[in-house]
Amino acid sequence: MEYQNLTCEIQENIAIITLQRPKALNALNQAILTELNHVFSEHLSREIRCVVLTGSEKAFVAGADIKEMDSMTPIQSRYFARSGQLIFQTIENFHAPVIAAVNGYALGGGCELALACDIRLASQKAKFGQPEVNLGIIPGFGGTQRLTRTVGPGKARELIYTGNTINAEEAHRIGLANAVHAPEELMPETMKMAETIAAKAPLAVSLCKKAINMGTNMDISRAIEFEADLFAESFATNDRKEGIEAFVQKRKANFVGK
Ligand code: CAA
Repeated sequence: MEYQNLTCEIQENIAIITLQRPKALNALNQAILTELNHVFSEHLSREIRCVVLTGSEKAFVAGADIKEMDSMTPIQSRYFARSGQLIFQTIENFHAPVIAAVNGYALGGGCELALACDIRLASQKAKFGQPEVNLGIIPGFGGTQRLTRTVGPGKARELIYTGNTINAEEAHRIGLANAVHAPEELMPETMKMAETIAAKAPLAVSLCKKAINMGTNMDISRAIEFEADLFAESFATNDRKEGIEAFVQKRKANFVGK
């Protein structure tokens, strides 16, 4: 597939996806959603150990495309919400961690997209919010659920009911952003984190992601038992042998992802 609204650059085993629909501040229309789905489900291979998802200096993503939504019937809007939700689940369940490097606006569907990523790093210029109530609609790409799970029900309610936009510092304070960096430092710092993750045992990182994602939706007894199952799975890998041997031999481990 030829991408018109994003680029995907591979640097060793790190993928950098840059959303590029500048005339609409990267608003998510059908075309960009289709490309986003394709890049995660078809384009990126199992060799990828970390993904960086970013936008432009002005906007990570300014939301779902309001102009495209204008003519939707309720049934079409449900299909639109479900298709966006399924794509965001594909990102959430991607085998490797996804870091959102949020440069500018992450509003509505943009905040929801960042929430579907594992980690959010923000530029000092980033702005977050769920402004859907200003349009007479509600968040439809998972915001009512993922924002609540990320920042807790109190803050999620406040942000969703008021539609207020918050700056990067506030997003950091409430746990929506993991860190805030100067604009020019955002990509270097994001790449530093991506490289750190990519140097670890990739199957172990992937199992950690699975344990966190799936365990969050289980009761604690089942979740810790599930963790023990995945712990045992990590013991079946060559990387476990390599990692433990390297520690004993006082050398750096070389993980191959097997
Ligand atoms: N959809 C479609 N087009 C959008 C857009 C969106 N979400 N956000 C911005 N654009 C377009 C603008 O219409 C404008 O296009 P034209 O030049 O053709 O007029 C262009 O991008 C530049 O935007 P502005 O001129 O508005 O830029 P600004 O700097 O003055 O303001 C902004 C920036 C505050 C982000 C403002 O654009 C804005 O409020 N955007 C909408 C944010 C929003 O409400 N997002 C939620 C959408 S609903 C949703 O996401 C539902 C869901 O959960 C699935």
